[in-house]
Amino acid sequence: AMHRFVAGLMAKMTLAEKIGQMSQIARHAPPVISHEESVRREQVGSFLFMRDPQEIDRLQHIAVEETRLHIPLVFGFDVVHGYRTIYPIPLAMAASWDPSVAEMAQHMAAREASAVGVRFAFGPMVDIARDARWGRIMEGAGEDPYLGSKMAAAEVIGFQGKKLGAPDSIMASVKHFAGYGATSGGRDYDESEISDNLLWNLYLPPFHAAEQAGAETFMAAYMNLNGVPASANAWLLNDVLRKQWGFKGFVVSDWETVPNLVTHGYAADAADAAARAVNAGVDMEMTSHDYLNYLEADVKSGKVSAATIDTAVRRILEAKYKLGLFQHPYAPEGAAERELVSPEQRHAAKLAAERTAVLLRNENGALPLKRDVRSIAVVGALADSKADTMGSWSLAGHYDDTVTILEGLRAKVGSSVEVRFARGVELERGNDSIFDPQFASPKPTLITQQQKDAAFAEAISTIKRSDVAVLVMGELQSMNGERASRESLDLPGDQERLLEAAVATGKPVVLVLLAGRPLTIPWASQHVPAILDAWYPGTEGGNAVADLLFGDANPGGKLPVTWPRSVGQEPLYYNPTLSQIPNDRDTMYWDGSNAPLYPFGYGLSYSKITVGGLKLSDEYLHAGGSLKATVTLHNESGVAGDQVVQLYVHQRAGLSARPVRELKGFERVTLQPGETRAVTIPVNAADLRYWSASDHGWHEGTGTFDVWVGDSSVATEHATFEEKP
Ligand code: IFM
Repeated sequence: AMHRFVAGLMAKMTLAEKIGQMSQIARHAPPVISHEESVRREQVGSFLFMRDPQEIDRLQHIAVEETRLHIPLVFGFDVVHGYRTIYPIPLAMAASWDPSVAEMAQHMAAREASAVGVRFAFGPMVDIARDARWGRIMEGAGEDPYLGSKMAAAEVIGFQGKKLGAPDSIMASVKHFAGYGATSGGRDYDESEISDNLLWNLYLPPFHAAEQAGAETFMAAYMNLNGVPASANAWLLNDVLRKQWGFKGFVVSDWETVPNLVTHGYAADAADAAARAVNAGVDMEMTSHDYLNYLEADVKSGKVSAATIDTAVRRILEAKYKLGLFQHPYAPEGAAERELVSPEQRHAAKLAAERTAVLLRNENGALPLKRDVRSIAVVGALADSKADTMGSWSLAGHYDDTVTILEGLRAKVGSSVEVRFARGVELERGNDSIFDPQFASPKPTLITQQQKDAAFAEAISTIKRSDVAVLVMGELQSMNGERASRESLDLPGDQERLLEAAVATGKPVVLVLLAGRPLTIPWASQHVPAILDAWYPGTEGGNAVADLLFGDANPGGKLPVTWPRSVGQEPLYYNPTLSQIPNDRDTMYWDGSNAPLYPFGYGLSYSKITVGGLKLSDEYLHAGGSLKATVTLHNESGVAGDQVVQLYVHQRAGLSARPVRELKGFERVTLQPGETRAVTIPVNAADLRYWSASDHGWHEGTGTFDVWVGDSSVATEHATFEEKP
């Protein structure tokens, strides 16, 4: 029925109307005519960044009622970690090691977005990132392709639901296809040179997983991949995505990536850019207007065939059909009032924030905080910042909805405990926020050195007067995300000095980190008794952190990315191959260590849950089959809590050098005090396949495999098996 309907519609369309469907116009960047006029003239198929339900509704009415063909618009938005209710950032979601929480959060986000008429999410971002200098590491699942694939699939299912036609489903756009996470030096928008080996084995798997999960759209990346711009990369879009993987949906460009084909030194001019993008398989142009302005001429001159245009338009109209927009173009009556920041949303956001926090250090039970504290010093400008509780890409979030850590702690302890706040040091990023003035970081209120010294001294004296100090430090949300790469990973500004002075007071100090990337905190890792990484926890972040600090929630997250000791170690990751001196990787630098500060998969909790007694169900794994690895978990503590059981393998010999370890299974489980439980993780032969540059092909794992199971990537429970063809 869909094919007949769309074919019937297309038979009535002019070339100009077809090109209109291929144009996505930004709220901020209209073409010369107004948005209303664009819709009336059928020069637009989609808008991005509109979030006012009335505006969306009004434009949709014009499209459906006042145009010749009555084709509904589809409204796109960066639904990255929530819509109005902000959930923890995606890197934090990966730290939950719980795909069900990622699915739940994106489903909740879809409910809010669809309630205002937004049915097209620019996410999930599934770019693998091995280099924490890259600001957009906060938007993805970190460094590992297996964890990244599980998160990618879960997010797609969360957005789209079982069927795209459900009124609260929104289509996913898997981004950024492909290789953006490998930009040179972690510099945003720089080129990516990725070997075939890493492309197939590391960078592409999460995209493939998202495609398999049914993602309706993909977004082409900004940069050159091995010299060919991703937005005109026919090999990526037509050969890999469509022919090899069987993708049937449409591809949208990224922001102005079509005109940027000229910037790349690739396309001769705008008309050439439009032709080469569409011929390479970019069906919809985001923001810029090269399709609108030049595709008609490109068809007339023969640079683009009418069939290519038809294919792109068919994909876009089919997506609209699947969304049910032809039958139900408008958001359901009253949905926005019901859904936006509803108690159910807040409850879900708090749960997600609790599950994503990672406890990095906890000496002598410094945490949880004792119930009998009489006074708490809360120190750090971030502790009371709404924007920095939400994190970047919270474009539809509201300050007023958000609970900061200071507010969360105050609400939790009530009037019996004195909570004293001191900002300590101000943070500043000079050249700020890109899309929305709402998110420009507040200008520092302190100007003179004298005032800075006074605020610093005031923070220290507040700590001295209090039973315990909670220091909230890290990065402004504008210090990570897009256009937010760094050449240092230290605590910005004067925070490190304040932290050291706070510890020197002798008062118990707890460090809560708000950041979108690993930070180099080697001193803190030795001297601060307790460190909790809360990432950017979202709308309910302050309440979640307060519960975590007081032990009403128990942190159980694990790092989805290696934390280096110094920025010079980057890119640092747990799964390299070795060339020589197998047991001495730590001395790869003479002036430092190659060991991480915190390894991939690491995280503590208030419980003590051991992992032991690894047993495999079989000594052989047959092609296409699976075997089971079983370990025994024991909660030695008196506190219920979570452990993430992680399974790593190493293939001892193959057609390529094989990584020292690769994650191939995990499960997050909850154990009651004193509980002992067997946990079984399957090892699937299909997951052991790898691509080799020796013959440019995929291979089953063969021969002897080591298996380690444990609570981080330094897991020590060991066994071996043989994979047989
Ligand atoms: O979705 C984003 C993308 O990740 C980066 N460029 C802009 C797009 C729309 O905001």
